[in-house]
Amino acid sequence: MDGCLLFDSSGKEYIDLIGGISVANTGHRHPDVIKAIRDQLDAYLHVMVYGEFIETPQVQYAKLLTENLPENLNSVYFTNSGAEAVEGAMKLAKRVTNRTQIIAFERSYHGSTQGALSIMGDEYWRNAFRPLLPDVLHLVYNSFESLNEITDATACVVVEPVQAEAGIIIPSKEWISALRKKCTDTGTILVFDEIQTGFGRTGKLWAFEHFNVVPDILLLGKALGGGMPLGAFIAGKKMMDRLTENPVLGHITTFGGHPVCCAAGMAAMKVLIEEKMTAAIKQKEELFRSLLVQPKIKAIRSFGLWMAIEFESFEFNKKIIDHCLDAANPLITDWFLFAPECLRISPPLTISDMQIRKACATILESID
Ligand SMILES: Cc1ncc(COP(=O)(O)O)c(C=O)c1O
Repeated sequence: MDGCLLFDSSGKEYIDLIGGISVANTGHRHPDVIKAIRDQLDAYLHVMVYGEFIETPQVQYAKLLTENLPENLNSVYFTNSGAEAVEGAMKLAKRVTNRTQIIAFERSYHGSTQGALSIMGDEYWRNAFRPLLPDVLHLVYNSFESLNEITDATACVVVEPVQAEAGIIIPSKEWISALRKKCTDTGTILVFDEIQTGFGRTGKLWAFEHFNVVPDILLLGKALGGGMPLGAFIAGKKMMDRLTENPVLGHITTFGGHPVCCAAGMAAMKVLIEEKMTAAIKQKEELFRSLLVQPKIKAIRSFGLWMAIEFESFEFNKKIIDHCLDAANPLITDWFLFAPECLRISPPLTISDMQIRKACATILESID
């Protein structure tokens, strides 16, 4: 693997159009990330559960993150995964509000552990694992009427600023603002799940910047670790401190914030910022859109280098995905969990114009 390319065991080259599902935003194996991992390997690995020793990579990465976030998001709790960040945020919201109800949205995906699964917005995926968390309510995304369900009994609303697995569903700015207002008015914690939308995917560092709305808790994962496993929930220090009392260790994680993962993630974030990777995203998005014109494409929904190409059915989409693997210029793509008729495009942000042209030619040839 290298940049935007993957190689199979025979050495065949593939363009990676999904980047490990929005993980490899700075490309696979960026030299700075590899160096940071090597340096940290030489320094130390896991030393202690959490907080007993101050680990430089955790502290430095938390500093870099908070320097690039609004003032109220100034305390970072690193976890092993996105799902664990979701768990931590739900626990924190319950602790802070003394309420139990958690609201999420239909066709949202927040992870696969039991708490995160409870708020997943699709009964097919939840059903086999019931009973799940009680007092969870699913609302219709981007519906103003739904917001009436948020009351002073709601601990938190967990929401993706743009829905990922539903096939890139972009809400209106007005709706996101109304959601923020409703949460503020009812004392409900607003949690933005930016596990897929974060780290430049949408053309800005964080998707919430497009909406001029700041959450109370931000969830990060995927690209956060620069290719290594890492998640985080980020809140205000005063709020986060509630996890330090009654019980004293409100969330415990052995490996969360592993020094190698923090070192890798920090190097990747620095690359993203220093190489100004978000600057070219709009132009690359437009290039994709201008090339992917074909009567069998029913719709394209995109938000930055993040697209859902809609076909008539999953069966048709699957044939294209499979054909892309065997084409003359092969590429790797995928569908979406709740939108199987849509082809996923979420490549490393480093993808070149030439690679975009090649990839689109392969997709069009596969449709034919
Ligand atoms: C929006 C969103 N939230 C949460 C998660 C869960 O992250 P993880 O797989 O690291 O537990 C994912 C993973 O796909 C996701 O896309």
